[in-house]
Amino acid sequence: MAQIINHPLIDHKMTILRKKETSSMEFRQVVNEIAALMAYEVTRDLETEEVSIETPIAPTKGKMILGKKVGIVPILRAGLGMVEGFLTIVPSARVGHIGMYRDPETLKPVTYYSKLPKDVSQRLMIIVDPMLATGGSLIEAIDELKRNGATQIRAVNLLAAPEGIKAVEEAHPDVDIYVAAVDERLNEHGYIVPGLGDAGDRLFGTK
Ligand code: PRP
Ligand code: URA
Repeated sequence: MAQIINHPLIDHKMTILRKKETSSMEFRQVVNEIAALMAYEVTRDLETEEVSIETPIAPTKGKMILGKKVGIVPILRAGLGMVEGFLTIVPSARVGHIGMYRDPETLKPVTYYSKLPKDVSQRLMIIVDPMLATGGSLIEAIDELKRNGATQIRAVNLLAAPEGIKAVEEAHPDVDIYVAAVDERLNEHGYIVPGLGDAGDRLFGTK
């Protein structure tokens, strides 16, 4: 299921990302800020357990996150831009990496790297990537996590095309997708319209 995270701060920051004049420096900063806001929402239902503690004043009970917690998996390159923002909110998360680029002719993902934490089966694994276009990259990344034993997977994308959401929902109906905005469509080159351009190039100043 796909869920749009509605928040005035996210809307404001997304507009900054979309503007073509926004520098790479500001783009990087704002991607991380939106990632942190989305991390808060995506982890809203983490299970907690009651623990007994002592404050400097008196014994009391508090809540702590239960179990092995969270793993974050950026899809390289552009997903890297969201990692720091996520770690601001969930600093103890493990970080895996999946390297993938989209072939410009076929628009199919080509995987060139995968390094995941050993215990993915015991963690909530959150894939981060600013763009969900055709959905090919995210479907392949979810396949890779499942091959490695992950059972609890979520995806966080800043911007999605309806076509991509549909493709991922069909391939992996068990994976919840969180997005900041859904745009109109893809163009003939597989770019989201109106979108924000090439997220990797804008983050890292390449072209
Ligand atoms: C972008 C983006 C996604 C992918 C989305 O990566 O970061 O990973 O495209 O497209 P899809 O939904 O059609 O698969 P890109 O291939 O440009 O690689 P990069 O991050 O290295 O620039
Ligand atoms: N990848 C991007 O970086 N931008 C798009 O619009 C589509 C795929």
